[in-house]
Amino acid sequence: MSDAGKTLWHGRFADGPADALMALSVSIGFDQRLAPQDIEGSRAHVTMLCAVGILTDHERDDVLVALDTVAAELETGTFEFAPTDEDIHTAVERRVTELAGVAGAKLHTGRSRNDQVATDLRLWTKHAATNVVRALHDFQSVLVRRAEEAGEFVALPGYTHLQHAQPVLLAHHLLAHVWALGRDIERWQRVRSAADVSPLGAGALAGSSLPLDPDHTASLLGFASRFENSLDAVSDRDFVAEAVFAAALTQVHLSRIGEEIVLWSSAEFGFVTLPDAYATGSSMLPQKKNPDVAELVRGKAGRIIGDLTGLLATLKGLPLAYNRDLQEDKEPLFDAVDTVIASVRALTGLFDAITFERDAMRIGAASPYLGATDLAEYLVEGGMPFRDAHAVVGDLVRRAIGGESSLIDLVAADARLGDAAVARLQPGAAVAHRTTPGGAGPAPLTAQVRAVRTLLADEEQWLAG
Ligand code: ARG
Repeated sequence: MSDAGKTLWHGRFADGPADALMALSVSIGFDQRLAPQDIEGSRAHVTMLCAVGILTDHERDDVLVALDTVAAELETGTFEFAPTDEDIHTAVERRVTELAGVAGAKLHTGRSRNDQVATDLRLWTKHAATNVVRALHDFQSVLVRRAEEAGEFVALPGYTHLQHAQPVLLAHHLLAHVWALGRDIERWQRVRSAADVSPLGAGALAGSSLPLDPDHTASLLGFASRFENSLDAVSDRDFVAEAVFAAALTQVHLSRIGEEIVLWSSAEFGFVTLPDAYATGSSMLPQKKNPDVAELVRGKAGRIIGDLTGLLATLKGLPLAYNRDLQEDKEPLFDAVDTVIASVRALTGLFDAITFERDAMRIGAASPYLGATDLAEYLVEGGMPFRDAHAVVGDLVRRAIGGESSLIDLVAADARLGDAAVARLQPGAAVAHRTTPGGAGPAPLTAQVRAVRTLLADEEQWLAG
């Protein structure tokens, strides 16, 4: 067997691996994307091995030069994979050894693929979490800009049970999503912290007899700390589960936004017109303009929820420490992160250019029925218990819907209500009266915009740090 044809473990084996084993075992197709992290981890590892006297300066430099070559080959697509390159760790080590000879064969000293893959994945997850935060922050910025443009004057019907409830400002509605995305950002920041512990030095499961210095590699790799328990270090995938959960909940939020766009762009609502660049046509129906972006974002929530349940099922039965099942952690993680980022970017573009149909919103918001609660509250101001006021107004609404007269005429004619109460039903009145701090009217909006600006500034500071 040529060296390139040998497995990492060939010494103990008389026979090479069966093709069927390799077909099942191989992960290079998806863990290739850990190449930058794998090389970074190996750089830190050889640097540490030299610092503690296991490698000479010369050997370290030979390995570092070989790692630079491998990095360049991988980046430019000239890296030639061998059939025995089961995963990215095997591939990099094989090529480093081809390039650096004896020094290369020392690269894996005191290290196992178990602590290596955990290190790579933690580095990747930290980077990914920051990317998701940036994408979500950009989306929030667009929503805040659109909210400020809509300002104090654009109201639409607010819904509960998808039935007209009370009017709300469009700005207030858009900012509701910004707060949910803000919680997603906090979750991704916590994911980054969860991943920020170096497992390198844990070896296969128990550490090493060699004088390894895990603090040194942790600091070279920019980790906040190192593992305290080698068994935990190689078997812990909590940070992956937390990342995929953060992705699932983020995508659930995006899905709800998507659902709203599907509804609002329908002829029945007519609250938005989709930008051409973020809508699709029909291959058969010439008049169609379809909200595929919103639907795909909604549909992909199912996929990430699947990533999460699949991952948890993989983890639930594993004894300590590393088990090969853990190779199954990567695809759900990569898929969840890729899907969230693609979805956020598409929604960002869509909201950047969407047209809010203010007239359709205004007409919906102007229905006097949306002021029914204000009528009851008018009676409460006069001393009537709310439950009685609710019944009085409910009776008027029933009569108006029954066709006796318009709600406004019935209110005007009612001795307990009259003209002052009719004023509460005029278009714009109900939303103007939503004065509760954090409420849907213009008075509390200014404070909310200020709070949301502080949130965005905090996020920018985190991204810069
Ligand atoms: N490809 C493996 C994974 O993703 C790397 C670790 C292999 N370790 C082992 N003991 N076979 O988990």
